[in-house]
Amino acid sequence: MDTIKVLLARILPDTGAELLRAAGFSVTTWNEDRPMSQEELIENTKKHNALFCTITEKLDKRFFSKCSHLDIISQFAVGYDNIDVEEATRLGIPIGHTPDVLSEATADIAFGLMIATSRKFLHLHKKILKGQWSYFRPTADLGIEITNKTLGIFGLGRIGSEMAKRCIGAYNMKVIYHNRKPNPKAEKELNAEYVDFTTLLAKSDVLSVHCALNSNSQGVFDKDAFKQMKPTSIFINTSRGSVHNEKDLIEALQSGTIWGAGLDVTNPEPILPDNPLLEMDNVTVLPHIGSANKETRDKMAVIAANNIIEFYKNKRVPHVINPKAIREK
Ligand code: DGY
Repeated sequence: MDTIKVLLARILPDTGAELLRAAGFSVTTWNEDRPMSQEELIENTKKHNALFCTITEKLDKRFFSKCSHLDIISQFAVGYDNIDVEEATRLGIPIGHTPDVLSEATADIAFGLMIATSRKFLHLHKKILKGQWSYFRPTADLGIEITNKTLGIFGLGRIGSEMAKRCIGAYNMKVIYHNRKPNPKAEKELNAEYVDFTTLLAKSDVLSVHCALNSNSQGVFDKDAFKQMKPTSIFINTSRGSVHNEKDLIEALQSGTIWGAGLDVTNPEPILPDNPLLEMDNVTVLPHIGSANKETRDKMAVIAANNIIEFYKNKRVPHVINPKAIREK
């Protein structure tokens, strides 16, 4: 059998490439520190059997019309809204991803954003840089208390559960959540209460978004939603920037409809340096680093590599998004 060729669309942790090479695959890495244009991606993918990609590669109908030869795609992420899964499935191309291993790292970022926002860390750091730390002022730079408050989770799955554990352990927070379907396991473990969306908005002191981006979640946090939240509430989003409407979020913060926001995701990414969110006292923005710690990224690379290795060995993808694609092959 010819050597199977795998294209790594970005510079990824060595753990993944080493596993693939040890399993006998020929591995090519796109070595530039930037994503390929779609044209470059298509041209390079045409010469390979399998594609190892990240959330920045746009695998839409156009991509699949030129690269329908692919045996498998392995996404170095848990989310996969950059991929037209329906089209891949129709073509019989399975897509692997990397769930579970990044839940704790991503929850750390949501938890960190909550604290940083509630106590205005970034704003105060910027003030010091500008030479504006003058003297102790009892009524200035006040943050907001989170102990014993209510945490609302939108999308209580693996990452949301890790965020809830941190908030219960550190701040004795009560947990309410809204999902498409209730999560009885999490309810039992976290004493979490299932509520409708309106109640989630009205009762949360901190509302943290952990859902996947799809047609149901796109733009759900809009003007109307922010209006129903408490003026003392903090909105946290570590899932995808398109789950909130950025213009409506800016207005809600400027008008005091909500108190603050912590964002690891924006729309678009990267956020433009002149975005008003970056100048607000009660806003913390990070550059989509949910899974970015060494151990987590190494584990993600191993899982993504194993998705490819197992597929060629046993016709099974351990972490597959579209199992139907394998059966149809
Ligand atoms: C994911 O895994 O979906 C993250 O957002 C990217 O690491």
